[in-house]
Amino acid sequence: MDVSYQLFLIIPPGLEDLAQKEILLKCPVPTMNVIKGGIEVEGNLDWIINAHLVLKIPTRILMRITDFKVRDFPKLYQKFSNFKWNQWLSHPHPNWEISSTKSRLIHTGRIEETIVKALTEAMHKQPLGRDWEKKSYSPQTFYIRIVDDHLTLSLDLSGDPLYKRGMQKIKGEAPLRENFAAAFIFEIFQGIQEPVRLVDPMCGSGTLLTEALTFYEPLHLRKFSFEEAPFFKGRQIKIPINHTKLPISSALGVDINKDLLQKVEESLDKKFPLEFKVANSLQEEMNDSLSIIICNPPYGERIKIAGKRGSFLKEAWEKFIKKDKPLRLGWLLPSDMDDLFPTPTNYQLISKRHLKNGGLAVTFWIWQKIS
Ligand SMILES: C[S@@+](CC[C@H](N)C(=O)[O-])C[C@H]1O[C@@H](n2cnc3c(N)ncnc32)[C@H](O)[C@@H]1O
Repeated sequence: MDVSYQLFLIIPPGLEDLAQKEILLKCPVPTMNVIKGGIEVEGNLDWIINAHLVLKIPTRILMRITDFKVRDFPKLYQKFSNFKWNQWLSHPHPNWEISSTKSRLIHTGRIEETIVKALTEAMHKQPLGRDWEKKSYSPQTFYIRIVDDHLTLSLDLSGDPLYKRGMQKIKGEAPLRENFAAAFIFEIFQGIQEPVRLVDPMCGSGTLLTEALTFYEPLHLRKFSFEEAPFFKGRQIKIPINHTKLPISSALGVDINKDLLQKVEESLDKKFPLEFKVANSLQEEMNDSLSIIICNPPYGERIKIAGKRGSFLKEAWEKFIKKDKPLRLGWLLPSDMDDLFPTPTNYQLISKRHLKNGGLAVTFWIWQKIS
């Protein structure tokens, strides 16, 4: 039977609109409910599999399992000791992510204790098979959310966050999360039809470039948690054939850090049509009228900048705009520097997006050359 599940995709706040566009493009659903930090959809198991392979912006996908009113611990215990866990559970000791607001049950420690006891009783009544031991399954994570005395139980389907693609193990000092990089790449390529040269002049581990080159590629380089769940048993993941690519004629990553770039190049092992160059991008000529330059320069927080960070960033920005003159320039900077970058002549600002990156308020800017 083609069961349809209620799903919740966790999205980094500030990227919800791009995540919605990505779903429409890659695995459309009839309706979506977009809220801050997430998108609710309905989908069957095939949709879940496909979404895990092709979506690059979500952080993880949860499956809503049950919901009920609860105001006291005996009711909570009774509900969970009679719950049919065997349909969902792949490991007897799951992790719990519990939150409670505006409710009588507020003590998350006691809520967890009660649920664990109830689950132990339920396991006596309907013991779990031994697959988890034989096949070394990982514990799943269940999300318990109580709002206004209404409890919702959801199961995390993804396991490790989806931005852990299993593709690139070498990271610089301040790498961009893969799902942020994918979102920025998706945005900067909106409306671009002709192939362009993609340049990241401060590429570090090359995340923006690898995400650009794999944006449409289905990836299954790691395991997803749902693959061990009882409702998945007997199925296999088939990688869909993909013919779509972003219009990239060539890709170049420049960085001043020779050791890092060497390690990155080795770890990518020519898997991508990517060129790397050790250089100071403030001096390196990258003039190409059909190029897109995108980067997140050092902010001076984790990676130190000689002199004042403002003057370094201003110099870099002016060099890219005035000397390299790309078709589009996109970059990510702390929002407290917003005033440093007025729209330059010959360019128009086409997007200015505010979001948080590692707890820091940042702005992702895109300027386009006026032709
Ligand atoms: C915030 S990191 C970029 C992280 C990258 N997006 C990633 O995901 O790994 C900034 C990078 O800029 C490089 N960098 C700093 N000044 C530079 C310069 N003048 N020319 C080239 N690279 C520079 C640093 O070595 C560092 O790798």
